[in-house]
Amino acid sequence: MIAGSAVIAGVDVGSTKTCAVIAESPPGREAGDPLGVIGVGVSPAGGMNGPAITNLEAATTSVRQALQEAERMSGREADGVFISVPSAYVETSRSRGVVAVSGAEITPTHVRRVQEVGQAVPVPPDRQLIHAICQEYSVDGRGGIQDPVGMMATRLEADVSVVTADSAACRDLAKAVDRAGYRAEEFVIAPLASGLSLLDDGDRDAGVALIEIGGASTDVLVYGGKRMLHVATMPWGGSAITRDVARGLGVPEDEACRLKENHGSARRSAVDPEEQLEVSGPSLGAGRRVSRELLAHIIEQRLDEILGLVYDELEEAGVRDRLGAGIVLAGGGVCTPQTVELARSVFNLPVRLGVPGSGLSGATNAVATPVYATGVGLAMYGSLQRRSGSLAGATRAIARVGGWIRDFF
Ligand SMILES: Nc1ncnc2c1ncn2[C@@H]1O[C@H](COP(=O)(O)OP(=O)(O)OP(=O)(O)O)[C@@H](O)[C@H]1O
Ligand SMILES: [Mg+2]
Repeated sequence: MIAGSAVIAGVDVGSTKTCAVIAESPPGREAGDPLGVIGVGVSPAGGMNGPAITNLEAATTSVRQALQEAERMSGREADGVFISVPSAYVETSRSRGVVAVSGAEITPTHVRRVQEVGQAVPVPPDRQLIHAICQEYSVDGRGGIQDPVGMMATRLEADVSVVTADSAACRDLAKAVDRAGYRAEEFVIAPLASGLSLLDDGDRDAGVALIEIGGASTDVLVYGGKRMLHVATMPWGGSAITRDVARGLGVPEDEACRLKENHGSARRSAVDPEEQLEVSGPSLGAGRRVSRELLAHIIEQRLDEILGLVYDELEEAGVRDRLGAGIVLAGGGVCTPQTVELARSVFNLPVRLGVPGSGLSGATNAVATPVYATGVGLAMYGSLQRRSGSLAGATRAIARVGGWIRDFF
């Protein structure tokens, strides 16, 4: 433990698991210094139906277990917790802020003011403002400016992406964290958190699509020219694959999940056609054998369909030709061997597996899997937010907007 260091915790309540990550930021840590991961905890999801909390008590238990496990590993207590919001609850819209500068040099105060104007959009009572992301500025009508401070201008404009989420869903998440005995500090949209842990400025500039295949959903987040270009989600993920395997092989879902995770392949052609797997039979003790090729075939069909839907989404959003840095894959659903190869053949672009590690120190091995991308990103977001000083006194109310985060996302 480093004396006087701040402890930052993230909790990612997914549809299949809850993941908690605890990080430590020593006093005097400079921008660009790695963030120390000191604890990780995972527990099976409880009280979830897809992205929705349907049993608060069970969800609370899952959150408590994950955080306590991370605390045991780190030897530190998590206080404020940064929480992921599933993309199913998210909507993004655009807004524009305008301020007069009257022929003077633009100062940080002007920038703050134009940001405030840009985020001042009416939010209906059933929605909650989560992030207001300043995509770029215009100075006297000249757009595409990332940092306008110091420029002479009469008029400064900000192009803002306003991200809101379903209030009831946020309330339930905060309640689960609160009842688990922790202080809910701030919400972060799940794919944006994953993007923080997996993408760098080069990716965001050249153009990149982060595809996260979770349990209940597949999220897509696209950057290009340093701007967030597109966010989308579709309601199929690893759980759909598990269901297909259960149906196709005639086995219960828990067995299907084990078979998928331990023997699966995303490409039938990569599997030895002679290889057989032992599966349970219709009655106790009556085992059967199925070919591993059949298991791979079922997985490939569904993964190919999911990736095909993502392809269509990228095409429709007009961003498929702008992915100079290609595709980054995350989430548990991409852990099946050969998924990268399958994605390469679907997109005909460079594809890499998104494994957290960059910008981190400490127990990096414990988080080096695409499954923990969101949890790690939450802790990274928390440390950026705290350093940016926007959490004065760390007493910020959860209802507040997630600050000015263009530099983070
Ligand atoms: N090693 C593995 N091989 C294959 N599949 C895996 C592996 N590990 C996890 N999965 C699958 O990944 C899926 C869960 O992914 P993940 O943990 O990213 O989802 P989640 O965050 O709980 O859900 P969501 O983000 O959709 O709310 C499950 O379907 C699980 O079977
Ligand atoms: Mg997830």
